[in-house]
Parts: sequence; structure tokens; C-alpha cells
Amino acid sequence: MRTKIAVLSGSGLSAESGLPTFRDAAGLWRQHSWVELASPEGWARNPALVLEFYNERRAKAWAAQPNAAHRAIAALESKYEVVVVTQNVDALHERAGSTRVLHVHGELAYARGTGPSRLRFRIDGAPIELGQRCEEGTQLRPDIVWFGEETQHMEESREYVAAADKVLVVGTSLTVYPAAGLVDAVRRDAECVLNTLDIDEIPAGFRYQHGRATEVLPLIASAWLKD
Ligand code: APR
Repeated sequence: MRTKIAVLSGSGLSAESGLPTFRDAAGLWRQHSWVELASPEGWARNPALVLEFYNERRAKAWAAQPNAAHRAIAALESKYEVVVVTQNVDALHERAGSTRVLHVHGELAYARGTGPSRLRFRIDGAPIELGQRCEEGTQLRPDIVWFGEETQHMEESREYVAAADKVLVVGTSLTVYPAAGLVDAVRRDAECVLNTLDIDEIPAGFRYQHGRATEVLPLIASAWLKD
């Protein structure tokens, strides 16, 4: 049986691929209101504004390339059973070669209907326009989990983290729940590593590795691949 690794990633992982984080100095929620752009209330008030915001983010994410940190995570699959639980809505993990990725906050590359069936389909980097409808005739929206909406794949993610022999947390401020709470599910005997550029509180049982993900993760991966 292969040793299990669970990776929990956030926007800091994709920062060096040119995609903004949320709460850093140039973060999205420093420049924009998440109430207006990432909540059911904001969508109800001004769907055109929300679509424009995500169309721009989708085009940028689609044009972005995975970096050395994404590739280091994918390389671990050569020796370990790896599951990536990501808060990121870009497809850079998959593009780097990771084969088991759970997007708990949705994916920019998908649109979905706003009707009961929430029909979901792939749009890659394409924009969603006001008036564009799903087969049920409802307005399409980005397949993103907004504040106040239910996070996806949480039970499955918690099981993977709780079963993991090694846990790697990268590029997240661990401030948004329930995703941030996954660090509490780690096994006592698991090897746990956290990499960010800053953190308020290091979760119990974690070794903190400060630095850029593209510098720190290749070192961690090569050490684990030598183990
Ligand atoms: N390398 C490593 N870590 C980095 C880098 C880098 N190059 N650049 C930034 N970071 C770290 C910062 O130090 C910070 O801890 O990434 C983290 C980014 O934190 P946030 O901006 O809060 O982003 P994130 O944790 O992904 O946000 C969680 O909040 O807005 C919602 O749904 C959105 O998924 C998102 C969730």
C-alpha cells in the first residue's frame, strides 16, 4: 500500500503563475467587495457586474501556466497516493499533472444553471453572458462557491486528510471555513508541513516553512521522493 499524502492548497500557490490572492496587499478582496461580487445577494442585485468579474478572472486563469510548486505536487504521484484538496478555482493542478483534485470552492472552467438541477457544463476560458441559459432555461452563473453557499466535497476531503500519512498545506491564510478546519482532521502521527509567506497562527502539529511556494515545494517534494 502506497503512503498517502493530502495537499490543501490556496491562492498563494497560484500567485507565482500571475493569479491574485484574496487578502494579501494586492489581493482581490482588498480591491473589490466580496459582498458585491461573491455572494448570492450581490448576484441578485447586479448579475452583469458579477459575470464581468468572473469572465475576467476566467480568461486570466485559462491563460496562466502551472508553476514549479504545482509541478512538485504532481511529481509526488510517482511514489505516493496523493489527493489535492484545493480552494483554488483555476485548473493549474490538473494542468501540472495532478490526477486527483477536489475543488471545494468550485471551478472557473465550469458554468452552471441557477435552477434546481444546477446543470453544470465545461466552458474552459469562455465568458458567460447575461441572457445565456441552461437547458432548463435558467440564467447561467459561474460554478463557484460564493460566501454563504455550501462548500463542495467536504466529507470526502476530511476523510482523505484524516487518512493521510503526510499533509502539505500551501498558499492559504487558513481564514475561510470550513476548508480551513481541515487542518484539525490530521492524524496525530502524520508529518504535517505548512508553507505560506505569512500566517497568523501555525496549526497544531504543523512544521512551518516560510517562503515562496516555487522555492519551498520542490525542496519538500524532492526530500519526500528520496524518503
Ligand atoms: N508562496 C507561498 N504562499 C504565498 C505566496 C507564495 N508565492 N503568495 C502568497 N502566499 C500566501 C500568503 O502568505 C497567504 O497566507 O497565500 C495566502 C493567501 O491567503 P488568502 O489571500 O486569504 O487566500 P486563500 O487562503 O486561498 O483564501 C481562501 O477565501 O476568498 C475566499 O474562496 C476564496 O478560496 C478562497 C478562500
